Amino acid sequence: MKTRTLGPGAADVGVVGYGAWPLSDSSPRPAEAEAIRVLHAALDGGVTLIDTADAYCFHEGEVGHNERLVAKALASWVGPREHVIVATKGGFVRPDGQWVENARPEHLRRACDRSLAALGVERIDLYQLHGPDPQVPFDESVGMLADLQRAGKIHWLGLSNVSVEQIRAARAQVEVVSVQNRLNPFFPEAVRDGVVGYCDAEGLGFLAFSPLGGGRLNLKLPEVPVLAPIARRHGVSPHAVVLAWVLAQGPSVIVIPAARKLAHVADSQASAGVLLDDEELATIDQAEFSIA
Ligand SMILES: NC(=O)c1ccc[n+]([C@@H]2O[C@H](COP(=O)([O-])OP(=O)(O)OC[C@H]3O[C@@H](n4cnc5c(N)ncnc54)[C@H](OP(=O)(O)O)[C@@H]3O)[C@@H](O)[C@H]2O)c1
Repeated sequence: MKTRTLGPGAADVGVVGYGAWPLSDSSPRPAEAEAIRVLHAALDGGVTLIDTADAYCFHEGEVGHNERLVAKALASWVGPREHVIVATKGGFVRPDGQWVENARPEHLRRACDRSLAALGVERIDLYQLHGPDPQVPFDESVGMLADLQRAGKIHWLGLSNVSVEQIRAARAQVEVVSVQNRLNPFFPEAVRDGVVGYCDAEGLGFLAFSPLGGGRLNLKLPEVPVLAPIARRHGVSPHAVVLAWVLAQGPSVIVIPAARKLAHVADSQASAGVLLDDEELATIDQAEFSIA
């Protein structure tokens, strides 16, 4: 698979990674054996970046569910484990299944220790602040990540759900390798608000989350008229065309699509080999992607 850098001083990873969220936080949740088969299929197909988070679970009582699943899949995989980067996150809690920010330093310290235990590692490859917490000064959250890195618990640091100003502010305190924001044709804000351009210019990795639009909107892709002829021309699905469009938004972009079905894992990976021409990209740029 084609590779791109995860960020300054960090590893190169396949341009199509894997987002593991729905393996733990979708209904019905796949059986563990099936979830592990899906993770193995992603790895066998050349994925070298798996995205998870402590909060990918149903509720606070099972925090770390997704990280434990990823760890179990890696432990039973026969391929080269050392080439796989596991990216996790801290900064959200799940009381009664809700999503609530908690990026207080003391919470991040505890969350990082729990992630280390759940992943069964001594150092986390990439630890991302899941999102700024409006109740906590941003530099305090980032400062704790810097402390955890100095303590050797984190190799590389990333940010998620941030603006260019926040990335700049964090980089004044600590070396940031990557940014994870939403990017898909329904929600192209990361391009329009300059975050992708900033990552391109600064050499940071941009991890595009929900690159297919997420669990609901991706179902609408086959109905978007411009995608089918482009998909036929390249011999791939409309979903793979959308991933190729996301990858074309900048040299920093890496996609982390999720999938619970084996066929979807393989289909998404096909996008790594699809190079859309300027006319195809413009056609998709101008098409309507309705979120209604
Ligand atoms: N940092 C953040 O705040 C944040 C927020 C959201 C997501 N994320 C990360 O981004 C990852 C991906 O985002 P996402 O889960 O929201 O959505 P997504 O990747 O945009 O879409 C996933 C959905 O697309 C379907 N799908 C995937 N490939 C397909 C294909 N080739 N053909 C047809 N359907 C296909 C999957 O179906 P099946 O499941 O049925 O296979 C799944 O329902 C997450 O897993 C997570 O790691 C991060």
